Amino acid sequence: MSDLGVYIHIPYCLQRCTYCDFATYVHTEIRPPQDYVSLVKKEISDKKNLFVPRELKTIYFGGGTPSLIQAELIVDLISELSKFGYTTGPQTEITIEINPATVDERKLEIYLKAGINRFSVGAQTFSDRLLKMVHREHNADQTRQTLALLRKYNLNFSFDLLFALPTQTLAELRYDIDVAVELGSKHISPYCLTVPEAHPLSKNRPLEDEQVQMFQMIHEALVKNGQHRYEISNYAQPGFESQHNLLYWTDRQYWGLGLSAHSYSKLSEWGSRFWNPNSLEIYAQQVLGNAQQNDSQIEVLEKHQALTDFCHTSLRLSAGLSVDKLVNKFGATTAERVRDLVTPMIKHDLLHLVSDAYCLTEKGILVSNQVFEKFTFLKSDLA
Ligand SMILES: C[S@@+](CC[C@H](N)C(=O)[O-])C[C@H]1O[C@@H](n2cnc3c(N)ncnc32)[C@H](O)[C@@H]1O
Ligand code: SF4
Repeated sequence: MSDLGVYIHIPYCLQRCTYCDFATYVHTEIRPPQDYVSLVKKEISDKKNLFVPRELKTIYFGGGTPSLIQAELIVDLISELSKFGYTTGPQTEITIEINPATVDERKLEIYLKAGINRFSVGAQTFSDRLLKMVHREHNADQTRQTLALLRKYNLNFSFDLLFALPTQTLAELRYDIDVAVELGSKHISPYCLTVPEAHPLSKNRPLEDEQVQMFQMIHEALVKNGQHRYEISNYAQPGFESQHNLLYWTDRQYWGLGLSAHSYSKLSEWGSRFWNPNSLEIYAQQVLGNAQQNDSQIEVLEKHQALTDFCHTSLRLSAGLSVDKLVNKFGATTAERVRDLVTPMIKHDLLHLVSDAYCLTEKGILVSNQVFEKFTFLKSDLA
């Protein structure tokens, strides 16, 4: 049976970071976590037949700050899935996002007993000055303490780092990378801060040239440390790639539960996407049966849309867009159409052919959005 991953969204945070676009709330301002988890459990039970029950490849608790709520509630959700046949085994990767200063030894032991085996730590930066500037509640010492706890149990963890923050220097970023490496992270996700133009954090940011230098510095430092860029924003030592995120990028099914969560199923010819609302009250009303899911929450894909998704997600990966897989899924004529687009990009050094796959070059990575635009297909393109 094919792989299936589950994403569960936990929308509680200590604070609402102004740069964050995720569907989250300050934990004291919404219904308590027990109520929210009951809603998600009802959603699991109501939608259990959308997929075929099987042992899960991955579960990912994302947020928000999943580590903020009682650990028992997280365990409850894993048990609820398994009650309906969506079981976990030793091979299942179970990740939880944790924020510094929200996990203690007791919580950690409960997670471990439930099979959680991967921890994604929202470190962001090890500069207290910059943490303050982006209004984070934690400081670098608290990140180190959280790390010390994870290391004591010899656990698999990953760091999220934010870069190109206002007034951040190359030297400060270099320090962040060095600390992340020194603390033993085998997986690092460096994200370039993205904020709208009018946002207060859009002022005094490193200029474009400097941002490119930052990208290159991160790349060189991590590669030197034995990590490879397996996806545009993700580095790992071999064997430590996020299996869950790889599901998203390799055309495999995932079931998203909870507020704002997105799913992808292959039940229709070209696959379907469906998603939950971003507002907690609307989500609650839908789960409780007081409001209908509406048509704008599902998209049954047509061939040109599936092809667009396939090209975009594959090109994000260092493994690239495999010609064989393209032919298998879409046929030789469509693969030819893609090849016509690739040829000029190879000439401009934006893509290159590595064995049987089209891959972004270093130059292509820097302008990946422009490359993806070329691989956005309309129905008429395939007529
Ligand atoms: C879903 S968030 C949750 C992680 C955790 N709550 C935290 O903030 O540490 C996952 C990651 O997205 C990244 N992120 C959030 N907002 C961003 C933005 N505006 N630009 C770039 N990365 C962002 C952060 O690095 C964050 O760790
Ligand atoms: S803690 Fe993380 S998820 Fe919560 S608001 Fe801040 S960036 Fe967003």
